[in-house]
Amino acid sequence: MTMGDSIHGSSSSSKWFFFFLSSSLSLNLFLLYLFFFGRQSDRLTWTRQAALEAEAVASLSCSGHGRAFLDGIGSSQGEPACECYACYAGSDCSELLPDCPADAESGDPLFLEPFWMQRAERSAVVAYEAQTHLFNSEDYEWKGDAFQWKNTSDSSVNTIEFVTSPNNPDGQLRRPVIQGRFTKVIHDHAYYWPHFTAIPSMVDEDIMLFTLSKITGHAGTRFG
Ligand SMILES: Cc1ncc(COP(=O)(O)O)c(C=O)c1O
Repeated sequence: MTMGDSIHGSSSSSKWFFFFLSSSLSLNLFLLYLFFFGRQSDRLTWTRQAALEAEAVASLSCSGHGRAFLDGIGSSQGEPACECYACYAGSDCSELLPDCPADAESGDPLFLEPFWMQRAERSAVVAYEAQTHLFNSEDYEWKGDAFQWKNTSDSSVNTIEFVTSPNNPDGQLRRPVIQGRFTKVIHDHAYYWPHFTAIPSMVDEDIMLFTLSKITGHAGTRFG
């Protein structure tokens, strides 16, 4: 390498240095300008606009017989409108159409949810008698680890075994241990997610509990 090469090299790298320095300064000045002056603009950002639209939609109840959509049927000027469930009509879905057969098995299984939410007292008694008796907690006593009762439990006594599978904290898949005609098993699958243990197959038990608590942190959110 000659002296000329080295001088040429250092002058071209300082050109790049000034180029990046001036680009970075300009960008920062531009962002500062946006930060101080851009916010005074009356224009809505898309997130604020979306939040306002979501609030407008949420404020429309649709009488519990429909769902509000911003782009719903009949909404022309970007105003939220109700899309009524089967057998309901009107701008707020309050008109019940006479002699209208509704097929409860077609479509959204939650289509009656808002209706029952408005009638919480009556919806609370939707239960079968046998299940209600079985789970009457007054008749039950906590007996501890099911392994202790595996061989000693009286097979004619109503028993509920909770099976946590995968188990907390070891992540082991578990099976019920108490046998008997009067034993019911509740499978707690809160940890049935592949990052806790390898999931060998789909589960299909009579009573299963799932939650989003361990996957997304939405504690108390259940399905099953
Ligand atoms: C094994 C097991 N089942 C159920 C739950 C309850 O989950 P949730 O947060 O949905 O109440 C937990 C919560 O810690 C748990 O560890």
